[in-house]
Amino acid sequence: SRTCLVTGASSGIGHATASLLRRRGDTVIAADLADGDIRADLSTAEGRAELVARARDLTGGRLDAVVACAGVAHFDALTVKVNHFGAVATLDGLRPLLAAGSDPRAVVVGSVDSVHPTDPAIVAAALAGDETAAVAAARAAVDRGEGHLVYSSSKAAISRWVRRAAVTDDWAGAGVPLNAVAPGVVVTPLTRPLLDDPETRVLVERSVPMPLHGHARPEQIAPLIAWLTSRENTLVTGQVVFADGGADAVLRGDTT
Ligand code: NAI
Repeated sequence: SRTCLVTGASSGIGHATASLLRRRGDTVIAADLADGDIRADLSTAEGRAELVARARDLTGGRLDAVVACAGVAHFDALTVKVNHFGAVATLDGLRPLLAAGSDPRAVVVGSVDSVHPTDPAIVAAALAGDETAAVAAARAAVDRGEGHLVYSSSKAAISRWVRRAAVTDDWAGAGVPLNAVAPGVVVTPLTRPLLDDPETRVLVERSVPMPLHGHARPEQIAPLIAWLTSRENTLVTGQVVFADGGADAVLRGDTT
């Protein structure tokens, strides 16, 4: 059986993924803010170090899969700290454990929102690995009344980070597929407040059109994550795989 670590495992997509992997017989190490096998706040340097240290203790230093799912969608700098820098710290920090695993794989949860308008300053700072500058750029966006750009920017940055990192010696060179899954709108505690309010619901429906089956359940995302982290995936790497009921095709259908 495989040993997989899932962040954000207490709720939504992370919870559904951890449950599916367990049902398939894998050993799952669940990480989240306040419960699970590892409690760590991935917005902080201490929490990120704690995640890696505890994972090492619990696994004897070997992991077969990592799923970086923890994320938030606030209109503030926390969103870039968790969604980009927390995810990068998870993947980079656990890479030595993956290197010691068997048929290791990694997935990060991005978002279809990465194709929406972004703030280039946030994305550039995030890709440069400069958290102080990315946080400052996020605060500047909020101050100009463009707080909504922080989430799309955090997801655009992590998707581009995946595409760049996947083909380096660290990942492809070490034989580790690394991909992003980009969900459309999934009904979870993260989106429920937006969907419950008729005014914001209309905005969500307009910005993320989902002609196939409409809004999704977390259980519809989990099998894709599970496959990308399975032994069967020997060739897919550096991809941002949209699981979005057609939203990306509607929004960007003329690009290939
Ligand atoms: P959720 O709110 O149900 O679950 C997110 C989990 O991450 C929670 O258990 C939360 O405690 C944890 N988390 C948040 N901040 C953390 C921190 N600082 N340290 C450690 N853990 C932390 O949300 P959902 O919807 O399951 O989202 C999971 C991922 O999917 C996120 O990255 C989100 O951006 C992404 N996503 C969600 C979509 C949706 O429509 N629900 C669409 C596209 C992407």
